[in-house]
Amino acid sequence: MEEKTLVLIKPDAMVKKLAGSIISDLYNLDLKMIGLKLVNVQKELAEQHYKEHKEKPFFSKLVDHITGQLHNHENVVAIVYQGENAIQKIRNAAGKTHPEEADSKTLRGKYGRWHSKTDCFENVIHTSDSPESAEKEITLWFNDDELVE
Ligand code: PPS
Repeated sequence: MEEKTLVLIKPDAMVKKLAGSIISDLYNLDLKMIGLKLVNVQKELAEQHYKEHKEKPFFSKLVDHITGQLHNHENVVAIVYQGENAIQKIRNAAGKTHPEEADSKTLRGKYGRWHSKTDCFENVIHTSDSPESAEKEITLWFNDDELVE
């Protein structure tokens, strides 16, 4: 099925200068990149993006992480990919959410870590988990005229 999906290269990856390596790995999936930008993530956008986790104990940490508060105020690279089974292909490449459980061949296994001091998953990228969330997330992060189709 032809799908679109959102990838966010998070501040932990940006502070380690991994954006190029991550994008390079994702090229191998044979998907089309139809939108890309650098975002200085504000609290309001972060809270909207993670709103279904509002009641979770780690919610404020998620917001602090994506807004760069834990990583030198780093920005986020937001990318929209399009292609056959794009959502699952990207999720497979990302690996398990918990970086310590992710296979070492995946992006999170290779580059991620669990930061014990902050109890934070530094898991390198966010990826949409369903067509519904992909649609919502792409609308939240991109204007129509920022996507090239
Ligand atoms: S849940 O509980 O199943 O709904 O959570 P999950 O879908 O696995 O994760 C949702 C996002 O929360 C992040 N997460 C955490 N961040 C920091 N610390 C802890 N302990 C933690 N647990 C979950 C997880 O990485 C998901 O964010 P993204 O950006 O999608 O990776």
